[in-house]
Amino acid sequence: MQRIGIFDSGVGGLTVLRELDRQLPQESILYFADTDRLPYGTRSPQEILQFVREIIPWMLSQQVKMILMACNTSSALALETVRQEFDVPILGLILPGAAAAVHKGQRIGVIATPATAASHAYRDAILEIDTTVQVWEVGCPEFVPLIEQNRLHDAYTYEVARRYLQPLLDRDIDTLIYGCTHYPHLEPVLRAILPPGVRLIDPARSLVQATQQELTLLNLQNRGDRVPTQFRVSGSPQQFARLSQQWLGDFPHVEKVYLSTTLELPIESID
Ligand code: DGL
Repeated sequence: MQRIGIFDSGVGGLTVLRELDRQLPQESILYFADTDRLPYGTRSPQEILQFVREIIPWMLSQQVKMILMACNTSSALALETVRQEFDVPILGLILPGAAAAVHKGQRIGVIATPATAASHAYRDAILEIDTTVQVWEVGCPEFVPLIEQNRLHDAYTYEVARRYLQPLLDRDIDTLIYGCTHYPHLEPVLRAILPPGVRLIDPARSLVQATQQELTLLNLQNRGDRVPTQFRVSGSPQQFARLSQQWLGDFPHVEKVYLSTTLELPIESID
């Protein structure tokens, strides 16, 4: 009966929520968006790890049974570390996304946040599976702010997208990975620029397939009634609700939460 907790910096995780609704409609979800601190993609690895170390204990206090990082930046930079630190199944996007892409193409482009691109998490994961494919990663710093400002259909967004995609088009890619969960929201823009033969890979699909396998393996599937998704944010609930209603279909109820920061206390000896 417990929820699956999913988190992102903002509305990107809604593309993972959409897949959960499609593939695992019986599961109940807690969605957290760290909107007070977005974008994550231009932050340092240390900051991202710190944020994830604050989000997971809060999610555990909400009794979640499993956590999905609905954020590539956190998956690339913090997943391996926090998996050792917390006693809860935690899944990320990179491996499922890499595996899905390798099955589809030979010349793979990855569009991602600057932090994810710089980590080369996708390139490394793909080459681990198949050393014969070629991979090119492009950091796209302007996409997340444009999406969070609801500028999806601005002429400027098309201009920026053309600029980011050009180096990949020059390489004649056959497959493009959405290396950030915000980017499927830009599908109409990207489709308008990409040649029709280029396959788009949304890692959320395979992440949710992996989630289903994990739930079955651990015998954690929901056997009760599904309860409505809970939305929690660290920034403005109104702003998140207004922006996300276009994807959710209705105006969600959103509440603000305050994450307690981890205090690094000096160790003192007590005499
Ligand atoms: N949607 C997240 C990702 O997949 C974070 C984007 C951001 O905040 O920069 O990387």
